[in-house]
Amino acid sequence: MIILSIETSCDETAVAIVKFSKNKVEVLANIVSSQIKIHSEYGGVVPSLASRMHLKNMSPVLKRAFKKTNLNQKNIDYISVTNGPGLIPALIIGVQTAKTLSYALKKPLVGIHHIEGHIYANWLKKPIKLKTHKGKNNFKPWKPEFPMLCLVVSGGHTQIILMKRDLNYKILGETVDDAVGEAFDKVAKLLGVGYPGGPLIEKMAKIGNKNKFNFTRPMMNSGDYNFSFSGLKTAVLYEVRSQQNFLHDKRGLRGVESVEVSLDNQYKSDIAASFQQAVIDVLIYKTVKSAKKHKVKNIILGGGVSANKELQKQLSQKIKKEFPLCNFHFPYSKLTTDNALMISIAAYYRIKNNKEIGNWKSAKADANLKLK
Ligand code: KG4
Ligand code: ZN
Repeated sequence: MIILSIETSCDETAVAIVKFSKNKVEVLANIVSSQIKIHSEYGGVVPSLASRMHLKNMSPVLKRAFKKTNLNQKNIDYISVTNGPGLIPALIIGVQTAKTLSYALKKPLVGIHHIEGHIYANWLKKPIKLKTHKGKNNFKPWKPEFPMLCLVVSGGHTQIILMKRDLNYKILGETVDDAVGEAFDKVAKLLGVGYPGGPLIEKMAKIGNKNKFNFTRPMMNSGDYNFSFSGLKTAVLYEVRSQQNFLHDKRGLRGVESVEVSLDNQYKSDIAASFQQAVIDVLIYKTVKSAKKHKVKNIILGGGVSANKELQKQLSQKIKKEFPLCNFHFPYSKLTTDNALMISIAAYYRIKNNKEIGNWKSAKADANLKLK
């Protein structure tokens, strides 16, 4: 079965073409065209600009994907697309393209929830070594044991999700305000280090002292599995402002509003490390607590923030120490942030389980799509 998938929920125009057989997943093409450079000028994603860029990039990305596979369009069995949640001007470009392909090629169309894609990015395991092939693009599909707990951490979501079987989701907790990736991006912005903030904060944190600032661990003892990151971001803002005022006065600039003082790199790195640790502490505490309660066999990470090596390392250590019967997984690094390969994998399991396979008429973009 060959699936062509499209992802345009935010600022990546992505297309994948993937061949699935019983024990093998062959990634024939996996193209991601990022718009980061364009949006970084504005310090965040501009939805109308993202839409225009998706429109501009879609045909070249599709062409590049087909060129890699040596297939023609008739070889495709299914089309799949992220139909939500996300930025509506961005989503509709992917969904309209998928509808057009589905109509023209007379192939079924499978709509995929973006978070389901992030979760299923974990289903691709070690490359298989074949005699006739380097094996680089061939993977084994994962056959996980359930129940399983997913910690989804991205720019738009922070959720703890319980899965009792394939495609079955129960949201145990989620953020009541900012998503964790959003908090990384906002802290990076107020430190003036650029966009997207997550990877930059992680890099700076490596040379910072994580114990320098004792930032709040929001909702740590709330007794539920919800999160809140907006107060933490504000705590960082107050600290940075007070440091700026202190430096301002120290340079004899009291009362001179127009002169801005810059923060030194070590200070920024200490802020980055202390902020990152506060986030990690809360994520780990709630994840391990709910994993124990539900006696899960596996804990998986998903979403852009799952690329964070410190989060991976500390969560893995905590699980080994406190819940050794449970296994821990995170996706290949290229599959942590948005891509279309994860959408193909989720679509494969939807098709295999006969779940809501649609067509060009039924597909619809929904910015607030619920996971079900
Ligand atoms: O999943 P994703 O690519 O897009 C959404 O679905 O939102 O996640 C993007 C988010 C951004 O907020 C970005 O700053 C964050 O993931 N991110 C990271 C890292 N890499 C990306 N956050 C922390 N550490 C990282 N290494
Ligand atoms: Zn995402």
